[in-house]
Amino acid sequence: MEPATEHIVVRRSGPLLGEVTVPGAKNSVLKLMAASLLTDGVTTLTNVPDIADVAIMGDLLSAIGVTAEWQSTEDRVLRLTNHGALTPVAPYELVERIRASINVLGPLLTRCGTVRLSLPGGDDFGSRPIDMHMSGLEAMGATFQIRHGYVEATADRLHGANVTFDFPSVGATENILTAAVFAKGTTVIDNAAREPEIGDLCQFLVEMGADIEGVGSSKLVVHGVERGSLRPVVHEVVPDRIQAATYMAAAGVTGGEIRLRNAHSEHMEMLLRRFGDMGLGITAQEGGIGVWAPARMRATDVATLPYPGIATDYKPLVVTMLTVAEGVGIVTENLYPGRFRYVEELQRLGADISTDGHHAVVRGVPHLSGAPVRAPDIRAGAALVVAGLAAEGETVIGGVHHIDRGYDDLVGRLRSLGADIERRPAV
Ligand code: EPU
Repeated sequence: MEPATEHIVVRRSGPLLGEVTVPGAKNSVLKLMAASLLTDGVTTLTNVPDIADVAIMGDLLSAIGVTAEWQSTEDRVLRLTNHGALTPVAPYELVERIRASINVLGPLLTRCGTVRLSLPGGDDFGSRPIDMHMSGLEAMGATFQIRHGYVEATADRLHGANVTFDFPSVGATENILTAAVFAKGTTVIDNAAREPEIGDLCQFLVEMGADIEGVGSSKLVVHGVERGSLRPVVHEVVPDRIQAATYMAAAGVTGGEIRLRNAHSEHMEMLLRRFGDMGLGITAQEGGIGVWAPARMRATDVATLPYPGIATDYKPLVVTMLTVAEGVGIVTENLYPGRFRYVEELQRLGADISTDGHHAVVRGVPHLSGAPVRAPDIRAGAALVVAGLAAEGETVIGGVHHIDRGYDDLVGRLRSLGADIERRPAV
């Protein structure tokens, strides 16, 4: 991957045409990497995206005692070698760089009986507490102390419990799930998050020898197995529905026709329905999805919700599509109230958007006009790239390191579809 001291420069493009392959999901691979702490030996992950967050998670795991190395970046195969001598400490310097570092909590606690983890901070789009992770693990017998910015958890052996979430938190579901794998007895997680990436984690754990019922549902039942009884496996990471949606949005704003190899329409049903309302033609095909976009899309209203609802991560893309659609769309954010920061950047590109609390009202304009902008986070950064495709003149995007955290060669893939886009050294 190129260094992040670069800008992405985009000029009005389109229509985008052709085919791209959707890479593996960031929000799955990071959790699978953390779950490799549960077994000694060599875990092999395939379809791993070449993104900065994978490298950062690799650094964190290597501080704990698992080495992560590419068997091949070309084939996107990552090998994780767990020698069994783990240091269950996640230091501040690494935790602050990546939210998914919280995912080592469950595996380390259940395997080592103790963990010291730097408290994760907030994100650019708001506060991100871990109270549900902690209360779920407490119900399983863990005790927590917070000292000097670290959460210290201990539990000689966790036991099964009934854990009912007030809200289906992705991270909390994953931590309780991985912790329950070696707990004594049965753990029932009610109102569990059921994102496809959680399904992928469940499948990975089952392949390793865990005993989990209800995979894909909001009630997960985990029967604890003996510590040491899991085995390393070879597992293919589920394709990234957010990256898939990014290419759909790019086709949408440029009036293109593309095919997304390896995209799973069944993981994006609600979003695809909304895209249909906007005038996109979407066809589920063997091994992918076909997308056809009209010359100009129609506006629609969208609200974010936990899966199977429309994910908050799609929202910057949807807002961007609405900026150039015909009519007015209202977008409501139900997960992260502060997640509208990029709106000011889109306004710099000439978008007509007003926000009120967790609502954004977007009035479509015929086209945007290029300007320098800054990516505030991964998804908003990708949305600004998409906006640049519909903007007259040049859009120069800074903060590219955010985009590199979650996108595997966004620029190369868009170029292959005919986009006028490049990375350029920042001057
Ligand atoms: N929440 C609590 N207490 C908790 C846990 C969560 O109040 O103990 C709240 C959060 O503050 C937030 C909501 O619940 O308002 C959702 O949080 P959740 O735990 O579901 O999210 P997460 O696990 O922290 C993952 C993704 C995010 C994605 C969200 C929602 C990863 C690494 N991150 O975060 O992805 O937005 O689920 O779908 O999986 C991204 O990839 O750019 C990204 C931010």
